[in-house]
This record gives sequence, structure tokens and C-alpha cells, in this order.
Amino acid sequence: MGDATPGAGRRILVVNGPNLNLLGRREPNQYGRTTLKEIEDELKSCAASRGAEIRFIQSNHEGELIDAIHHAIGWADAMIVNAAGLTHSSVGVRDAIIAAAIPAIEVHLSNIYRREEFRRHSFIADVAVGQITGFGAFSYRLGLEAALQLLDKKGL
Ligand code: DQA
Repeated sequence: MGDATPGAGRRILVVNGPNLNLLGRREPNQYGRTTLKEIEDELKSCAASRGAEIRFIQSNHEGELIDAIHHAIGWADAMIVNAAGLTHSSVGVRDAIIAAAIPAIEVHLSNIYRREEFRRHSFIADVAVGQITGFGAFSYRLGLEAALQLLDKKGL
């Protein structure tokens, strides 16, 4: 019964927006010193140990992120999304999440509510399953746990 492919039915796409490629050296007081590669490696091994398949996209370009979300249709069962600055500005990314109809978990390294006023509004929050914000690189681990629990609940 089910698909013999390991991780099938538990497929997770991690979407990272502008400037997150510079994690580790970018405003370390705000975002810490862990690189995006280190975050991705940890999520990869954690997902593998839980029988889930995981893929990653990072782009500094809004349209590429939207394309990646479209490409996830039919593949991903859940998404972990850090749209970075686009969180606060992009109706396009928001609409792509709605259009893809893939449950999304919004994550942020920093606590967006403890920073500038403009970061307090997220175009993703009300179309996401939930939001994890302020735990540094650990926000992604929490995001993965949330995604896995969601898929468990769905019986995937
Ligand atoms: C961020 C928070 C955003 O406000 C900011 O523009 C980012 C990173 C975070 O992970 O804390 O680029 O999404």
C-alpha cells in the first residue's frame, strides 16, 4: 500500500527569499552566524531520519520564488517559507501560496514583531498554517517539526 518511494507523501519544500543566501555574514546580531547551507544540511538529515523528502530553493528574485512554488504543485505536501523582505511586500508570493494550495509554514529567524514597524505586517501570515518567528536558525527546525506533524495528522 502507498508509494514505495522513500518519503513519498512526506515531501517538503523549503523556500528562502532575498538575502538569505548571505546568512552567516549578514547582520549576525539579527540573524546569527549559521549559514543557509548549515541550516539546509541539518534539515536534510533531520527530514531523512523522519522518512521525509526535502528540497530547497533560495532566490533573490520574486518571480523565481513564485515559479518555485508553482513547480512544487503535485510534488510538495507542505512548504516551509521564509520570504524574507518579500514577507512584508509581496502580494505575488502570497497569491502563489494560495494558488498552489500547499500548506505553508511561515518562518523567520528574527522576531518580526520586535523590530521596525513595517516588519509587523506579513502578507503570508493569514494564508499560512502558522508562523514561527524569533528562534534564529532553530526556527527552521521548528518549522520542519510543524510540517511533519501536519503531514502525520493528514496520514501522509
Ligand atoms: C526575516 C525577517 C524579514 O523582516 C527580513 O526582511 C529578512 C529575514 C527573518 O528571517 O528574520 O530578510 O525573514
